[in-house]
Amino acid sequence: MNKLKDLQKQISKDLKSLDIQDIKKKYLGTKGLIREKFSRISKISKDERAEYGQKLNQLKEDIEKKLNDSNKTETTQKRSRIDPTAPFDDNVKEAERPHILDLEGSSHVLIKELDRFLDIFKSMGFDIVESRQIDDDYHMFESLNFPKGHPARDMYDTFWTEDGYILPAHTSTMQNRILSSKEPPIRTAIPGRCFRNESTDSGHEHTFFQIEGVYVDKGISISNMIATIKEFLESYLETELDVKIQPAYFPFTEPDAEFAISCPFCNKKGCSTCGHTGWIELMGCGMIHPNVLKAANINPDEYSGFAWGFGLDRLIMIKNHIPDIRDLRAGNVKFLRKY
Ligand code: FA5
Repeated sequence: MNKLKDLQKQISKDLKSLDIQDIKKKYLGTKGLIREKFSRISKISKDERAEYGQKLNQLKEDIEKKLNDSNKTETTQKRSRIDPTAPFDDNVKEAERPHILDLEGSSHVLIKELDRFLDIFKSMGFDIVESRQIDDDYHMFESLNFPKGHPARDMYDTFWTEDGYILPAHTSTMQNRILSSKEPPIRTAIPGRCFRNESTDSGHEHTFFQIEGVYVDKGISISNMIATIKEFLESYLETELDVKIQPAYFPFTEPDAEFAISCPFCNKKGCSTCGHTGWIELMGCGMIHPNVLKAANINPDEYSGFAWGFGLDRLIMIKNHIPDIRDLRAGNVKFLRKY
């Protein structure tokens, strides 16, 4: 494909002349050429898009393989490893002393994918604020339009500390902080750990990541919300998607919706990943409720906006074909080294 021919030539040249760190930065870094080409995928014509994606993936794999091979030679030949079992008994012969396997560490798959998402949001003009891991009743409920005694408070299986603090059950706890500390236009993505007191199974964990989005400006409508969410999901999943919204209920948005995408694995034919429905529900979202804007001193007659919250773990599972969410935190090195 002509569009990638120049890049391919450049890579072959650089692999011979540049040093490993420079190649990594130039091609695979967050501002690298491969990432940049992937971000343009939606601008490629529909007929050429699949081939373009495959070629780009192939180029990426070629570079990674080359870097891996040189890394192996470098670590085994040049670096002597630190022995974390030291100090050891000097009287024990070297061969009998405890030793570690000659393996290299790497980032956890959740952190790698979280970084990819944050790059996508930054390239779309969002700033990033991390959520808290301990919070209070006001941010978890009151500021989000759940007055005391509101039945919807029970929708969230919240962990409470003995002195009345909360382990956030969702990243929406940050909405009021973002809305009251910034002036519109506001575009913020908020990654964070969430905790729910619920039984675990292959799709549910007591601890998981969400990424919240908050967008406020003049004249913002639900179609801006759908276009924005579609755009970042297509960038992350590197494919074109059909999307639909269906009714849901959250006290802090009006109207509220569940956002679903066409299954990227079977193209709506039905498969085990989408439970044979052709669609995968990914997140809650909606137009920010006027009471939530008022609680942050934003005039709902002047400004409107939308918010979403999606489970990062579930999207990573979809992208990497991981069937059980519990594998992500089980600490099984064999599993983790695959990613
Ligand atoms: C919420 O948490 C709302 N705060 C989302 C929202 C934000 C709506 C802003 C409107 C505006 P929900 O409970 O549906 O909604 O959770 C959102 C996503 O978090 C789910 O779609 C799922 O991807 C993920 N999630 C929820 N519970 C778990 C769990 N136990 N394990 C793993 N992921 C989970």
